[in-house]
Amino acid sequence: MDIGYWVLGLPMPVHYSILNIQYQLSGTMHTTTRILHENDDREMQLGSVNPPIYHSSLFTFPNMQEFLDAQAGTSSRYIYSRHRNPTVEALEQKIAMLEGGDGCIATASGMGAITAALLATLKSGDHALVVDSCYGPTRAFLDGIMAGLGVTTIYFHPEQRDISGMLRANTRALYLESPGSLSFHILDVPELSRQAREAGVTVIIDNSWATPLYQQPLSLGVDIVVHTGTKYLGGHSDLLMGAIISREDWLPPLRQAAELLGATLGPAEAYLALRSLRTLPLRMAQHQGNGLAVAAWLSDHPKVRRVLHPGLPTFPGHELARQQFSGWSSLFAVELLPPVSPEQRHGFVDALQIFSIGVSWGGYESLLIPLHATTPAVMAQRQRLGLNSDHYRLSIGLEDPADLIDDLSQALARYEIA
Ligand SMILES: Cc1ncc(COP(=O)(O)O)c(C=O)c1O
Repeated sequence: MDIGYWVLGLPMPVHYSILNIQYQLSGTMHTTTRILHENDDREMQLGSVNPPIYHSSLFTFPNMQEFLDAQAGTSSRYIYSRHRNPTVEALEQKIAMLEGGDGCIATASGMGAITAALLATLKSGDHALVVDSCYGPTRAFLDGIMAGLGVTTIYFHPEQRDISGMLRANTRALYLESPGSLSFHILDVPELSRQAREAGVTVIIDNSWATPLYQQPLSLGVDIVVHTGTKYLGGHSDLLMGAIISREDWLPPLRQAAELLGATLGPAEAYLALRSLRTLPLRMAQHQGNGLAVAAWLSDHPKVRRVLHPGLPTFPGHELARQQFSGWSSLFAVELLPPVSPEQRHGFVDALQIFSIGVSWGGYESLLIPLHATTPAVMAQRQRLGLNSDHYRLSIGLEDPADLIDDLSQALARYEIA
């Protein structure tokens, strides 16, 4: 906008006064710009730069006809916030744009997105093929609630490239997560999707690690993308949210599942997520640089057995990852050499001053989780994925990487290897 018109108090030219035209951005504009301005309708919000939080569970009607039109779906009026809410829709439009989907359903958590996607694609008598490195509660949902509903699930090792022999006549869903958040195995998403689609199987992927900035699975042959927005999309460890993105054909059953589960997102969380999205490119650039710097430093440390970071050229899946990702997030794992005594493990973790012990990831703060000290289910999965018992997962935050390296350095100095 020409600041001169504002300062001199002159009437603005017509094209400046119709603000919402200014924000109908062309598809060729850069993602960073589109995250900021896509679908903003400032006229509708009295010129306010930020969308208001429509803090309301319901919307009322001035007359019978408006009510009947809304019920019949012939008007775009809002009815009830579990179904649609303007603040939540503003978020959904931006996430759909980022993933290159036709629409998005924002959910109350990542598990809300995952369970709604599985319930929308599978019914009693169906079979699901799922990568063994998937998030633990996803597996618990499949083996517990979905099994109880008559859905059978089998798991394939993340290094397996040919899954055609595992697809059955009743297989309806292939569920992927790349990379997995323990071993960081990279899947050949286009090839696995191709095999599934040839057999008429719907492909779902958890894309939380890469964020839609660094991987767009719909362009790799996937049908449905799910996210825990609690991680990088939220980015500040202050909200729980999730998202489901797909093309037009899958949107109605996905939305119905999320709505009937009561898993849709509320407007206050949607506002926080909108606020976070504006800095996603900046934060991810810093996460990426910090993560690579810490991972590279750990790789050269004499007490380190190996570093599992897809962005390191030494990582076994690196070349495949380069074909699918346009950047690296900052969640990765390190395996230390075995200590002289188990107490050393506690000593190493307790000596850390900047890193906190925490199970989540993707926030501004650096975290570390010792995987040998987690649940039996995680430990069993860790063994199947070939990880040793001195395996730690790090979520690298936005601190100065030199400080993070100093912190790890002083903690490792106290760690005595056998
Ligand atoms: C890879 C992955 N997917 C999904 C989830 C579930 O997300 P939420 O905690 O938002 O339900 C998590 C949570 O840690 C996760 O790590």
